[in-house]
Amino acid sequence: MTSIRQLEEPGEGRAPVIEEILTPASHTSAGRPRPSGPVIVCDNLVRIYKVADLEVVALQGLDLIVEPGEMIAIVGASGSGKSTLLNILGGLDTPTAGRATVSGYDLGRMGRRSRTRYRREVVGVIWQQTGQNLLPYLSAAANVELPMALAGRGSRRERANALLQLVGLADRASHRPETLSGGEQQRVAIAVALANGPAVLLADEPTGELDSATSGEIFEVLRHVNTELGTTIVIVTHDPLVSEHVERTVAIRDGRTSSVVLRRTEQAHDGEHRIIAEEFAVLDRAGRLQLPRAHLETLGLADRVRLVLEDDHVEIWPAGSRPADGGDR
Ligand SMILES: Nc1ncnc2c1ncn2[C@@H]1O[C@H](COP(=O)(O)OP(=O)(O)OP(=O)(O)O)[C@@H](O)[C@H]1O
Ligand SMILES: [Mg+2]
Repeated sequence: MTSIRQLEEPGEGRAPVIEEILTPASHTSAGRPRPSGPVIVCDNLVRIYKVADLEVVALQGLDLIVEPGEMIAIVGASGSGKSTLLNILGGLDTPTAGRATVSGYDLGRMGRRSRTRYRREVVGVIWQQTGQNLLPYLSAAANVELPMALAGRGSRRERANALLQLVGLADRASHRPETLSGGEQQRVAIAVALANGPAVLLADEPTGELDSATSGEIFEVLRHVNTELGTTIVIVTHDPLVSEHVERTVAIRDGRTSSVVLRRTEQAHDGEHRIIAEEFAVLDRAGRLQLPRAHLETLGLADRVRLVLEDDHVEIWPAGSRPADGGDR
């Protein structure tokens, strides 16, 4: 099997055909430059599901901005609204209130035709269940060609082969999904999602059914796609491994963005490169802040807190305690 490592090596291992055939994500599949500015903007996004007389607030004022070419992870407890967000970004569901735009498409206001076009050409989606991503009676290559046929594209076989090569599966092009391993099926699913050169790739728990070694490989394939094609990638996951593969991990709690972990590499005095991961709480435009649950529990913070503005920081005190006025604390 062709590994991603081989593909990354210059010369023999990497076919020039990839660059020639695959459109970079900065351009539409028709070759036009995509609009500049953030590729994904969620502004105060709300999604309420009505079940009989009950209302479930799945997203409650979620804000998120993703720049072109970013690869981010979205994490959060079960029921926090991750799939709801991804379904909206994928054009499968619409927000109850607030705005979501992707690559210039306003997702709350698309008509039927632009929605079809959006789902076919602007986003690619990978689901957790491998069976949901691929048609069982088609070969890997035919699965990748299908979205191109629906969009009326030419040179489908060539492009399908280039995409399968990009995900390290060139030698499995004629295999049907049942003859591929779970990890290989997810690689094909990535190629299918990239078929029409989308600006954004969305993946909902893409490694949920895979062991940790194979999960690591899938994250590496996504990273490879991100660097080679410049495709913006949003991965929803429970997998703690993911933060090693992305620069930004966004945590969602109760339907809102609560914190962000930024990862960067720093060179220490001894010349060693170290990965620094730092967690930040998210401050939304209305000035709202979610404190981590652990902080709330440790200090017994509830209902209201006392804020003290200092020269260069803000202190948060339990409402019952009285910070001394000024002086050293
Ligand atoms: N179609 C629906 N009808 C009613 N409620 C729904 C629907 N889809 C999701 N919900 C509710 O919305 C909330 C958010 O669900 P969502 O599927 O987005 O969570 P999640 O973060 O993806 O969870 P998981 O990690 O378990 O996949 C949950 O309370 C869920 O029960
Ligand atoms: Mg989910």
